[in-house]
Amino acid sequence: MATTAGSAVDTVVTDPLAYSSRTTYTDALSDFIMTNATILIVDDEDLIRWSLRERLRTDGYDILEAGTGKAALEQFKTGVDLVLLDYRLPDLDGLSILRELKKLDPEILVILLTSFVSVETAVEAMKLGAFHFANKPFNLDEVAATVGRALETTRLRREVKQLRANEARPYSLRAIVGESATMESLRQMVAKVAGSPASTVLLTGESGTGKDLVAKTIHYSSTRSSRPFMNITCSALPEQLLESELFGHERGAFTDARLQKRGLLESADGGTVFLDEIGEMVPGLQAKLLRFLEEKSFKRVGGAADIHVDVRVVAATNRNLEEQVAKGAFRSDLYYRLNVLPIRLPALREHADDVPYLVSFFVDMFNKEFKKHVTGVSSAAGALLKTYGWPGNVRELRNVVERAMLLAEGDQLEVHDFGALKPGMSTGDAFELPAAGVDLEELERSLVAQALRRAGGNQTKAAALLGINRDQIRYRIEKFGLSTTP
Ligand SMILES: Nc1ncnc2c1ncn2[C@@H]1O[C@H](COP(=O)(O)OP(=O)(O)OP(=O)(O)O)[C@@H](O)[C@H]1O
Ligand SMILES: [Mg+2]
Repeated sequence: MATTAGSAVDTVVTDPLAYSSRTTYTDALSDFIMTNATILIVDDEDLIRWSLRERLRTDGYDILEAGTGKAALEQFKTGVDLVLLDYRLPDLDGLSILRELKKLDPEILVILLTSFVSVETAVEAMKLGAFHFANKPFNLDEVAATVGRALETTRLRREVKQLRANEARPYSLRAIVGESATMESLRQMVAKVAGSPASTVLLTGESGTGKDLVAKTIHYSSTRSSRPFMNITCSALPEQLLESELFGHERGAFTDARLQKRGLLESADGGTVFLDEIGEMVPGLQAKLLRFLEEKSFKRVGGAADIHVDVRVVAATNRNLEEQVAKGAFRSDLYYRLNVLPIRLPALREHADDVPYLVSFFVDMFNKEFKKHVTGVSSAAGALLKTYGWPGNVRELRNVVERAMLLAEGDQLEVHDFGALKPGMSTGDAFELPAAGVDLEELERSLVAQALRRAGGNQTKAAALLGINRDQIRYRIEKFGLSTTP
């Protein structure tokens, strides 16, 4: 420092414009800079601190100063957005201060003020996260421009972090609502898979059972959470577009490929790619996807180079993939590769005990959204919701609650707020007729018996489960000679 301080000071003193005028570059940057940012200037030369302080104050920053490493670390604790750090200080060397600062705040950016450092030191400093070197003697406008860029970087990083946190918040394990054993074991499975190094997961389940939710929860509960989560619906795009979305393309690979483009797999490196509706993927792409899953590398469309990435692929389908395989519509090798870690999301009617929990979850959610104060559902409405078949699963329940909340006038949701719902209404494909046919009498007997068992022998409740009235169930109990004791 002693060798260069003179010239640094010369620059400042002989060029009064250096801190009183703003270059067009800094003017342009000033639109973006963090207002009210606090900058800590660490240098043992009073004159250098003075010149930097005066210059940076004209840009509207708050300035703190320190003449020693110890003082710098003390000042830093009061809250600082950027540090300008002289590399040679009387008490501590630049690298150890840099290290300490990064320990206190791993995100902090540091501009090193230096005239000369060895390549090794520069490399070490960069490794420790030094943002930039400002060489003495400074051009103060250049330093100011670097400061503007560093603060912009800090602002963007904080914004990304904030956005990621906001994005992640709804996808903790607790966001998968349900107290039944089925949902408890689902949460355990999700936690296990999220924490595992498994690179492929297959989510199956009817529409509206929470496949999207679980895919995001897996991502945001994993060590990949700070990296991108990218999502593509395989049925939404024609083959060529889907291929270039996934794998990217080189310039000129096809007529419209005027520029090179990175695909989702590349952009999501380190993170997760969610392939929704995988059952709709055309066979040609299935083969390419399989190759990628096996080799962890792929070529861009029209490209020759192998590109290696580390992504977890979470695939989802509401189709029965085994049937698709049997029909020859889905490659069996890809199915086996995906099916290494399958997670099946149960239909809501399979865990109807969770309906009240889900209802209260969505009531809370829409209370916030609609600024309402609904306390819950009346017992008659609760019974109706519990016995309904929910062919659209949790999504349907969510929509039904949303609509009821919009219509509700009192502080409880009543049966009439749930409009057209009828107990036992459409159960979708739940009772798909097996190829071999059924014995309808026997099926009816079995369903009545099951309903009685589930209702603990209570005929009214059992009737509600079947969407019939008490007389109708009594008639069947007699006809089949069923017992009503649980
Ligand atoms: N267990 C659950 N707890 C809380 N919310 C849930 C649960 N399951 C599903 N949901 C909510 O229900 C809605 C539908 O879920 P999602 O979109 O994940 O279904 P999906 O299985 O992806 O359906 P599709 O096959 O139609 O794409 C979403 O709003 C989701 O957050
Ligand atoms: Mg979905």
